[in-house]
Amino acid sequence: MRQPSLGIAGLVGTNESGSEDASLLQGSGASSATVHISVLLAAVIDGLAPVADTRVIDATLGGGGHSEQLLARGARVLGIDADPAARQRAATRLASAVASGRFVIAAGNFRDIGAIALAHSWEPVMGILMDLGLSSDQLADRDRGFAFSADAPLDMRFDPTTGVSAAEILATASEEEIADILWRYGEERRSRVIARRIVAARATGGMTRTTQLANLVARAIPGRPGGVHPATRTFQALRIAVNGELTALEAALPQTLDLLAPGGRLAVISFHSLEDRIVKHWMRAEERGCICPPATPVCVCGHAPRLRVLTHHPLEADAAEIAANPRARSAKLRVAERINEGQG
Ligand SMILES: C[S@@+](CC[C@H](N)C(=O)[O-])C[C@H]1O[C@@H](n2cnc3c(N)ncnc32)[C@H](O)[C@@H]1O
Repeated sequence: MRQPSLGIAGLVGTNESGSEDASLLQGSGASSATVHISVLLAAVIDGLAPVADTRVIDATLGGGGHSEQLLARGARVLGIDADPAARQRAATRLASAVASGRFVIAAGNFRDIGAIALAHSWEPVMGILMDLGLSSDQLADRDRGFAFSADAPLDMRFDPTTGVSAAEILATASEEEIADILWRYGEERRSRVIARRIVAARATGGMTRTTQLANLVARAIPGRPGGVHPATRTFQALRIAVNGELTALEAALPQTLDLLAPGGRLAVISFHSLEDRIVKHWMRAEERGCICPPATPVCVCGHAPRLRVLTHHPLEADAAEIAANPRARSAKLRVAERINEGQG
């Protein structure tokens, strides 16, 4: 039986809106080497406590940093990523593990995690990792349109081979729909002003490039000197909308319960409160028995606990990690263990 030993990271203040690190920006095209620094690496490995020769799923492969450590502990890893460039980088970095068959790379969106695992005969599993959002590699690749500090087509798709780009959304959605995206996914208080300007700009060619949008937002809602760029929340909101990030998370979480063997663990790293709220509420609901409304005299739901939450407060990066990797400052890690129904 594995013991939880999750008292790792010191608590720090969080900053949801994270600024961009201009030094990361690379030239055109994806680099074959990753520049992404894995967040909360030791805490993730400690939390998942991989057991040699058991199956694990890394649902957000990215630069392959977490996968590399899981493999080093003897786990067999199925790494999923929607982004072909991320899969290519991880394949290069972990080529020997691929060759040995201990590491399998799967294209796809983790909203289909159950079907992907089934297709690779990768279940039941003893661990699942979801390190949400985008990687520094994607931010650094000028062509992808994630960064407002580099002029690029306004794309933002994790998988550029499918779906609708940010530019297409801004060209076709109504003013109300754009304002709704900015408000819901960026918690942008000036969403209506920005949306109005975006729609007005269609008369002069619309928003097709990152810097056009960044400049429009900066003119609409000038930032405070020394504060984060005023377009930070707009870019976050569009990225979440383009990739359907919250709906993918909501779809994936219940599937993880069917994939995890009893004693298997789920670790989720989120980077803003919208994601963390979904993870927290879902884990708490799965930890509870009856979920009938409080006024129900006798339980009619028959719900049995299926998870034991191991992190009652999310783990966060300590000052040393944040100094080395500013992206870690808003990371929150939650870990839960699959239990047998009726065991809770
Ligand atoms: C934060 S990075 C992961 C970094 C990785 N843990 C590491 O240590 O290098 C997130 C990755 O997940 C991918 N991703 C995000 N949402 C996804 C989804 N719904 N389905 C598949 N991949 C997704 C992104 O393309 C990105 O490469």
